[in-house]
Amino acid sequence: MKKEKIIIGNWKMSPNSIEEAKKIISSSKKVARNLKGVKLVIAPPFSFLSLVLRGIEKDGNFYLGAQDVSIYTEGAHTGEVSVSILKGSGVKYCIIGHSERRSMGENNDIVSEKLNITVSNNITPVLCVGEKERDVDGKYMDFLKEQISLSLSKINKKDINKIILAYEPVWAIGAKEPMKTEEIRQTVLYIRKILSDMSDHKTAFQVPILYGGAVNMRNAKEIISYGDVNGLLIGRESLNPIGFSALLKEVDSLN
Ligand code: PGA
Repeated sequence: MKKEKIIIGNWKMSPNSIEEAKKIISSSKKVARNLKGVKLVIAPPFSFLSLVLRGIEKDGNFYLGAQDVSIYTEGAHTGEVSVSILKGSGVKYCIIGHSERRSMGENNDIVSEKLNITVSNNITPVLCVGEKERDVDGKYMDFLKEQISLSLSKINKKDINKIILAYEPVWAIGAKEPMKTEEIRQTVLYIRKILSDMSDHKTAFQVPILYGGAVNMRNAKEIISYGDVNGLLIGRESLNPIGFSALLKEVDSLN
C-alpha cells in the first residue's frame, strides 16, 4: 500500500459565487505545489469543473473530481452529466453513492452501475458507504457488509482494486465531532475483511480507504494516524481556504 495520503474536498452545492470558488482554488493551488505525500482532489459542483481545472498545474499532485455521474452514457437526459462529458472536462475521480445522494433515492443497484461506468472509462470512483446509526446490537455491521457487497456487485472482481472507498458514518456527516479514531480503525479493518471475502487479501489491502464526517484542520492528522485510513473525504472544511490549507500541510507532515 502506497504511503501517499488522499485528500478529497467535496464542495457539495457550494460556494455560491465564482469569486469565492476562485479564492479556494487559488489557496489550494499554492499549497498543492509543495505537497510531497498528499494527493489532492477537489470535487466542485459541475459548473465549476473548468474553473478548478484551470488551477491544476501539470505534474502537480492536484486532481479534478466530480460529485456524481449519470447512469446513462448518452442520449436525451435533461439535467444529467455523462461519463464522457466528465472525462472531456478533465475529471479523474468521481464520488459515487454519497449519503446525500442515497437519501434522494440512489440505491445500491444504481451505485453499482455508476461504479462500473466510471471504472470502465478510467475515472477512479470514490465509493461512499456508511451506516445511519450505531446500534448496540451491531446491526450496523450487517448493514455495511450488505451495502458494500451490493455496491460492488456489478464490477468485475479484478477491478475492485481500481476503486477508492470512503467510509462516512452518516451520523458524523455535518456533525460537530467525527467518529472516535479507535472506532474508525476497527471499522476500516472490518471493511478490509469484507473486501477480502469478496476478492482476496491482496486486493483488500490495495483499496485505499478514506474516512469522512466532521473532519477539520484540528482532527485530520489524528484521524489518519490512529484511524489507520489512507486519506479523508472532507465537506465543510474544504470550503474554508485557511482551514483547508492548514489541514493539507498537517497531513503532509505525516510522511
Ligand atoms: P463534512 O461532510 O466534512 O462537512 O462533515 C463530509 C462529507 O459529506 O463528505
